[in-house]
Parts: sequence; structure tokens; C-alpha cells
Amino acid sequence: MIMKIDFTKIACSLMLLGLASCDDGRLYEEETPISPEGRMVTLTAKLTGLASWPDPSMYVVLAGFNDDSDYALINKSVPVPETDGEEVTIQLSGIKENVTRVELCVINRLRRHILGFYTIDENTLLGSNDIKVDVGALNVGMYHTIQDRVFNASCVNCHGAASSAAAGLYLTAEKSHAAIVGMPSKKIQGMNLVEPGNAAKSALYEALSTDVSITGAWHYNHTGEVVDDDILSMIRQWITHGAKKDE
Ligand code: HEC
Repeated sequence: MIMKIDFTKIACSLMLLGLASCDDGRLYEEETPISPEGRMVTLTAKLTGLASWPDPSMYVVLAGFNDDSDYALINKSVPVPETDGEEVTIQLSGIKENVTRVELCVINRLRRHILGFYTIDENTLLGSNDIKVDVGALNVGMYHTIQDRVFNASCVNCHGAASSAAAGLYLTAEKSHAAIVGMPSKKIQGMNLVEPGNAAKSALYEALSTDVSITGAWHYNHTGEVVDDDILSMIRQWITHGAKKDE
């Protein structure tokens, strides 16, 4: 006769007797059990520039993600207020257990995360079923975002922040828009730096997306400056939709 020994049962009996423990050493004191309807996040903010995103190619949402994917598991678009900068309240309900962070962010039409403005992290999220945050005033304008995340972060060191600007091009906040939109390129004859409505005819987009070894037009290879395809596509969308300065 074969006797099957159920080790799980033995382990659990020992546990009941207080002789063993299945504890893995991690404590989740902060975690609030999720309610059957899921968690709810209520976010209040004074957002400026919301209307500048070319919805639905790219739009601002309150969305839930987990670490395994760049795609929103749940999202709610942020309504454009009548007056720019007016306080808006966005409520995202039914947030399930698989969501580990909620972000005020930009997603594309496939609900893929492009960039974030504000993050409610796992600790805050798991601590309650009813999370309320006030993020205050935030400029989420599309051009402001390009200036902040691209030009300030990757370009101004060579283009205008110091005493000189490479190729005479100033990409600093006060000067960038006037310096690029409808302005002729010095590098590529007959092309504007930014041609509203046409990224393929914009020297700035060409610089960022084309390897110098292909065209030979450039001495300095710019393709290493913006390596994130989503950020590059944000610049393309901005040009395609008129290259406007935020109102
Ligand atoms: C390390 C320095 C450096 C950085 C960083 C840099 N550039 Fe440049 N950029 C140059 C140089 C040098 C030239 C002249 C290019 C040449 O001669 O091939 C240039 C030229 C350009 C031109 C062509 C101007 C014209 O009139 O045709 C554009 C557009 C441009 N850069 C955009 C950018 C943008 C956008 C960024 C940031 C994402 C950036 N650059 C970051 C050095 C830099």
C-alpha cells in the first residue's frame, strides 16, 4: 500500500499549533483590502494647455498601469475646462487589484503611455480604497511639454543656454517657437525647420529621426538625442497638427 503524505496539511497543522510560520518576512500593514468595486482615485488640478493635445491621437488621461505593460489597464480622459487653468476634478473608479500605479499622463489612441505628469505610487494606492489628491497648478500644454521634456532636457546645452547656439539655433523657452516654426533651415536648402502640417518637410524632425550617415547633410548626428520613439512621435504629432504654441 502506498501512503501519500500531504505536506501542506502538516505544515498548516504546525502553523495552527504555532510551531511554524508561512510568513515570508514581508509585512503589508499599509495595505487596505480592495473593495469589490475596486479603488477610486479623485484627482483635482488646475491644468493649463489641456486643449493643445490632438485628441484622439494623443490625449491627457487619468490612467491605471502595472509594471508589466506600457498600456493603460483603465483610463478616463480629462475634460477640457471652459476656461484654461480652471480647476478640474477627475474621478477614476473601478480600479482593480492588477493596477499598481495611477498617473495623470498622455496616452495615444492605442492607450499606450507616452509621458507622465503626476504619479500616484503603489504605496499610496494600496493604502486606501478612496484616494484623493490635489496636484495644484500644472502646465500640461503640448508645446510646453516638448520644451520641457525635449528642448530643455536634451538640446539647450548646445542650442542657446550657453553663450553660443549651434547652427545659430536657439531652443530656449523664450525663443524656440519663433526660431523654428516657418523658419528656413541653414542645413537643408529649401526646407523649413518646422513646416506646420508636414513633419517630413521639417528639418528639425529630419535631424532627430535620420541618421547622418544616410543623408550626409549633417555633421552632427542628432539621432541619439531623442531615443524614445514615443517622444519622437509626440514631436511628429505636434508638427502634423499645426505646430502651435499653447494658448
Ligand atoms: C552636442 C551638441 C548638440 C546637441 C545636444 C543638439 N544639437 Fe542640434 N546641432 C548641433 C550642431 C553642431 C548643429 C550643426 C549641425 C551640422 O553642422 O551638421 C546642429 C544643428 C541643428 C539643427 C539644424 C539647424 C538648421 O538651421 O538647419 C536643428 C534643427 C537642431 N540642431 C535641432 C536640435 C534639437 C531639437 C536638439 C535636441 C533634441 C539638438 N539639436 C541637440 C549640436 C547639437
